[in-house]
Amino acid sequence: MASARIIDLLRGTQGLGQIGDTCTVRGWVRTKREGKGIAFLELNDGSSLQGLQIVLPQTIDDYEALIKQINTGTSIEATGLLVESMGKGQKVEVQATAIAVFGNADPETYPLQKKRHSIEFLRTIAHLRPRTNMFGAVFRVRNACAYAVHQFFQERGFIWVHTPIMTASDCEGAGEMFGVTTFDLNEIAAAGKSVDFTEDFFGKPAFLTVSGQLEAEIMATAFSNVYTFGPTFRAENSNTSRHLAEFWMIEPEVAFCDLEGDADLAEDFLKYIVKYVLETCPEDMEFFQERVNDQVMINARKIVDQQFERITYTEAIAILEKCSKKFEFPVSWGLDLQSEHERFLAEEHFQKPVIVMDYPLGIKAFYMRVNDGTASDRQTVRAMDILAPGVGEIIGGSQREERLDVLEARIRSVGLNPEDYWWYLDLRRYGTVPHAGFGLGFERLVQFITGMGNIRDVIPFPRFPQSAEF
Ligand code: 4AD
Ligand code: MG
Repeated sequence: MASARIIDLLRGTQGLGQIGDTCTVRGWVRTKREGKGIAFLELNDGSSLQGLQIVLPQTIDDYEALIKQINTGTSIEATGLLVESMGKGQKVEVQATAIAVFGNADPETYPLQKKRHSIEFLRTIAHLRPRTNMFGAVFRVRNACAYAVHQFFQERGFIWVHTPIMTASDCEGAGEMFGVTTFDLNEIAAAGKSVDFTEDFFGKPAFLTVSGQLEAEIMATAFSNVYTFGPTFRAENSNTSRHLAEFWMIEPEVAFCDLEGDADLAEDFLKYIVKYVLETCPEDMEFFQERVNDQVMINARKIVDQQFERITYTEAIAILEKCSKKFEFPVSWGLDLQSEHERFLAEEHFQKPVIVMDYPLGIKAFYMRVNDGTASDRQTVRAMDILAPGVGEIIGGSQREERLDVLEARIRSVGLNPEDYWWYLDLRRYGTVPHAGFGLGFERLVQFITGMGNIRDVIPFPRFPQSAEF
């Protein structure tokens, strides 16, 4: 029998939710309350934060047995009449005429009893935490963000391209890659042999990708406007609240575009997604505002309503040097900005998102375009990072080096071998064009929007050092 989604009954969508209708709903019981000759269940099917109240009258078949069997976590199907609810905060409820139980949840052992659980505890039961209010809200908002990403680019004629997950090249040149091999490492060690990668599956060392950018550039120099949206991997041993070993990234790449155009696109993109989430997930956003972080709505409005601040790296350093704040890490032209510096700029100094441009060449990847101009201009590259209040760097992007000779020299100067990048260099050899792109860390975005303190709580099954459970 067809069943209704709870959200449709509550909101009156899909032609459902009329008082007097007979309906069937399925889901997991969140709470059970027993009165005299009556019981109330709160049922949730994941479609909305709010559950549906199911009223069980004593007259229902097997009332006593049912009430015993049904507990928090039990999965059931309820059929009955949709009636106006007398209870607070709910318009409708179901007067059940029949209940079928799918699966029991023993109250002695089911870990999600009706009480506040710490977020750290919930992380250890990642297979059950999606059934909580908080994680339900997080993953619905995550879904809305993903939908908005595709909608934004598809509306603008961008082609979604699929870039490889296994690769032989290190896009960021930071050496933070996970190896991929079919070798039996124990066997090699036991035999005391040295590793010969020509014998390995791909005939050379291979890795999980850190970014789809280089392949996106290939596609952009054929389709003009493309984007990727896929998993990326970094073996950086950083146990922070902003780093994952496996995260999702969106990387648009645009031909005939410079850094300013790139920044415009990024700003429009972030505004679009946040606006979409505010419109489609009001209940979940209210939950975050009330229960997680009271800056959530203020930060969201800053993205949507305000023009992002744009400054150069050199200006950022000057601001940081002049301010009275004591930082843990040093501030000096040529050093990378640390999270504390980024957050100071976005949260305290400008109090809104900031786009920092033109970073020193020495701290950025080889593919970024070297600035034209004076000798000191040529010490910087056309890079931009977008810093958001609450998380710091949320987007990293750049105009790409389109000049063959400059690029080749840059690859050499960072200690990479131009031969390994022959196909990337070919893009500059044949029909080269100015082009630019950026990468948005999807979990950083969801973290920003939801106000969740730790990035491990905005992806269903986080991967970080010493943890690959589930
Ligand atoms: O700044 P990143 O390293 O830039 C790139 O990978 C470029 N290839 C992007 C491009 O121009 N196409 O990473 C981009 C974004 C960061 O701004 C951050 O939001 C996110 O990816 N990110 C991470 N998110 C979670 N965990 C990690 N370990 C991350 N490392 C980067
Ligand atoms: Mg970066």
